[in-house]
Amino acid sequence: MKLDFHSHILPGLDDGATDLANAVELTSAMKDWGFERITCTPHINALYRNTPETIRRAFEMLAEALYVKGIDVELKMSAEYRLVPETWPEVLEKNWIMPIEDKYILTELPISKPQEMGWIKPLEEFKKLISLGLTPILPHPERYFYLSHRDLMSYVDAGVVIQCNYGSFAGLYGDTAQQNAENLVNESIVSLYGTDMHNLHYVKVIGDWFADNNKIAEYPYQ
Ligand SMILES: [Fe+2]
Repeated sequence: MKLDFHSHILPGLDDGATDLANAVELTSAMKDWGFERITCTPHINALYRNTPETIRRAFEMLAEALYVKGIDVELKMSAEYRLVPETWPEVLEKNWIMPIEDKYILTELPISKPQEMGWIKPLEEFKKLISLGLTPILPHPERYFYLSHRDLMSYVDAGVVIQCNYGSFAGLYGDTAQQNAENLVNESIVSLYGTDMHNLHYVKVIGDWFADNNKIAEYPYQ
């Protein structure tokens, strides 16, 4: 089974798919790449205040549209939870965690401004989740230029699973992210790869990279 645990393909919820037609296009491209089960992970952060209810509505719209069009791919529903004071405490308080494959939770940090985490200490939150029987996935550490190797390793040692974006290897986020991602692979601390699908530019860049290099063999599906 070829799985993707990280995508922003639900229509109109965040900076991913803009509308239903766009959502179908993005999903269809991922199916063409070979993905059989896709977990939708819209942002829950200060800018995109999604809830399980907003996510469910968009999820049902997309699932229905895929069915009508005969696009046979299994969709699952979760979220990408950012560790920020605006939303993360509410997620915990209201039990908004929707585990991926019954065990994972996609917990991201701010991309470029660590101060946005405020009083939240990621390692403590990761340990809390692990004590609840969940396995935190840290997505795209190659994009957190402020994150020290020491802090990253403290997360790995605690049991956090590291996920790099396919797009990073394809140069989608620039040279530094690409080099960081390759270094993490060489250090053997990357367990998962994700599309982090947002838009048609991702389809083009990741699609070309897959096609040119047959990289899917080197960076396998889950
Ligand atoms: Fe994401």
